[in-house]
Amino acid sequence: MNIVLIGFMGCGKTTIAMELSKAKDMFFLDTDILIERKLSLPVNIIFDYYGQRYFRIIEKEVISEISEYDNCVISVGGGAFIDSKNIETLKDAGIVIFLKTNLENIMNNIAGKVRPLLKGKGLPYIFELYESRMPYYKKADLEICVDGLTSTEVVKEIINRLEN
Ligand code: S3P
Repeated sequence: MNIVLIGFMGCGKTTIAMELSKAKDMFFLDTDILIERKLSLPVNIIFDYYGQRYFRIIEKEVISEISEYDNCVISVGGGAFIDSKNIETLKDAGIVIFLKTNLENIMNNIAGKVRPLLKGKGLPYIFELYESRMPYYKKADLEICVDGLTSTEVVKEIINRLEN
């Protein structure tokens, strides 16, 4: 079985996935890292040179490839769980956990970091994007609110929820 972590940019998916994989003695995979390896380019350059549409094609390919794996904790880019095929593939691949956090924490977490989709965008755009994605994220099998929790506490909470 795999554990798939989804949620908006800046909710801590990658950090939590790495920590969870160690705690559960599972493999760690991250879709953005796999996309970067596949194209030998960082995500922001892929967006700049090839555009979001191409990024989404490669993202879907990577998701399809990793769905064949087992015993992995997989962190998935914030825009992947919006596509119906990706939703189906990821739900078939394992248990999908939505890491929910409020917009204030997201803004703090993404400040100063490279997020090509949000380049030059203000709070109203980010709020709209966040709200528009919420109905998709809600399709996860489990939802965990990460606000005010350290990554270690989130990992403990995930393990508890999976055991109960
Ligand atoms: C994206 C989120 C990013 C990355 C890309 C697009 C999105 O991943 O996949 O920049 O559409 O929300 P993180 O959620 O890990 O930041």
